[in-house]
Amino acid sequence: MRLLYLLFIINWISFAHATPILVDPQDRFSPTLAKQGMVVASESFAAQASLEVLKQGGNAVDAAVTLGFAMAVTAPRAGNLGGGGFMLVYDAETQKVVAIDYREKAPALAHKDMYLDQNGDVDAVRSKFTHLAAGVPGTVAGLALALEKYGTISLQQALQPAIQLATDGFPMPATLANAIQDATERFQRSAASRAIFMKPDGSFYQAGELFKQADLAKTLRLLAEQGTDAFYHGKIADQIVAEMQANQGIISKTDLANYQPQIRQPIQGNYRGYDVFSMSPPSSGGVHIVQMLNMLEQFDIKQTGHNSAQTIHIMTEAMKRAYADRSQYLGDTDFVSVPLQGLTHKDYAKQLTQQFDLQKATLSQNIREGQPAVYESPETTHYSIVDKHGNAVANTYTLNFSFGSGITVSGAGFLLNNEMDDFSAKPNVPNAYGLIGGTANAIEPHKRMLSSMSPTIVLKDNKPFLVTGSPGGSRIITAVLQVILNVIDHDMNIQEAVNAARIHHQWLPDKIFMENGLSPDTVDLLKQKGHRLEASRTMGATNSILIQHTDDNKRILNGAADPRRPEAIVASY
Ligand code: DON
Repeated sequence: MRLLYLLFIINWISFAHATPILVDPQDRFSPTLAKQGMVVASESFAAQASLEVLKQGGNAVDAAVTLGFAMAVTAPRAGNLGGGGFMLVYDAETQKVVAIDYREKAPALAHKDMYLDQNGDVDAVRSKFTHLAAGVPGTVAGLALALEKYGTISLQQALQPAIQLATDGFPMPATLANAIQDATERFQRSAASRAIFMKPDGSFYQAGELFKQADLAKTLRLLAEQGTDAFYHGKIADQIVAEMQANQGIISKTDLANYQPQIRQPIQGNYRGYDVFSMSPPSSGGVHIVQMLNMLEQFDIKQTGHNSAQTIHIMTEAMKRAYADRSQYLGDTDFVSVPLQGLTHKDYAKQLTQQFDLQKATLSQNIREGQPAVYESPETTHYSIVDKHGNAVANTYTLNFSFGSGITVSGAGFLLNNEMDDFSAKPNVPNAYGLIGGTANAIEPHKRMLSSMSPTIVLKDNKPFLVTGSPGGSRIITAVLQVILNVIDHDMNIQEAVNAARIHHQWLPDKIFMENGLSPDTVDLLKQKGHRLEASRTMGATNSILIQHTDDNKRILNGAADPRRPEAIVASY
């Protein structure tokens, strides 16, 4: 008996040492725990439908594609058929991470100066709120490709919940009801949008009222019957082109027919022993997350402490240099050569950190892009999924702004993106997120506009440890960075890591944006170092899963829905 007790103690001690205790009664916020499968997303009807797929034996990709189509119905601010995005997939069988790029592309008739007026100034309305703002949509092809390559269910099956939600309707969530009211001006340009998002008498839906979308249901049914051909060659393609031709848009049937999603190698880095995989170009996210982690690895930020003035100082010095490089080097690698290995090399990070003054902020005007070695990528939504087989998916997709361009394809019931604004319309003129760029991200026919979306999977010992990502335009990259740092350096459980107050610096403008939650004396200390600070609305929404592996080969899934999206949910079993 005594021996048994001793064995139990030894076993317990080794368990406690090998596996960090990620939930502690002392913690301020607790994640949701589950054993089999988990979906963390910003809308609950779609998340529940996706969880059902997992429960019925589908894998994480099946659930992710089902969720992607369902959110096009239930969360039309960002969920979409008329937009694009990126999906990272960890395949448990091969233990490899792949990236699916279904980012929109510039139409064939797009050209460098298409958003300049007679004076050569950027016409911001044209690049954001007209038919010219839309890139060739990639979501339908991207989700279908994911399913074909890595899924187990049919496209019809994956579309079923979306069809049902659009046909039978669902109670309008409060945030959607409010967002529609906020977007009324945007909908003024599109009678088809008003017909969907407002009642026939022009009044608004109230939270809880049944919301049906008949045209969208028809479109989804066509997809189920005819596959992606309906969208890129058939009836839906005709509807998109008719919409374009009636409104001086330029997307043609050839543009749609030529659209192809790409399977790409994700960007890979290593941070304090963890392997970080994130999105490659045309996203800038993966490159700069790895670049900033490489810089931060050289400092003991665990010791300087979470959100202390010194840690924020070091983080923002890293952020400024990364975003300066972004504006110079990053663009679609199918068109421009990006020094990916140079930018993500640890030696380059060392070179950059040598410029840090630990007492004083370097003014952004004194920072230019670095010289990486040349060895040879608001409303978006992110969801994270893990299945019982050990697969994981991180997916971020978007129409760019909330409801995209605000323009619905008449008769087809879905919104068009305004992603063309992510190109650099003119060198050094900021886009909607204050980001500037040059030739690398200039508009060219068929090119993909640079993105910040950063679906990310961190592995430990070749197994998924953290699945995360975020909306937030330029702030996506720093939001994802902070979730990683909060977990790895600051020993937070995943809910604390997601909830913690965030900061952001993007080189230009030269200021630290901060969420509520930094103490006034931290702010004072940062000012003394020469930083300028500005209070910000919340930044990002990092729906995340952390996977704890126990010594007896069991997993505990730790889910954290980001409270910055009131309807975000962890659905699990
Ligand atoms: O791809 C990008 O970087 C942007 N179009 C993302 C927009 C976004 O995250 C807006 N969300 N809050």
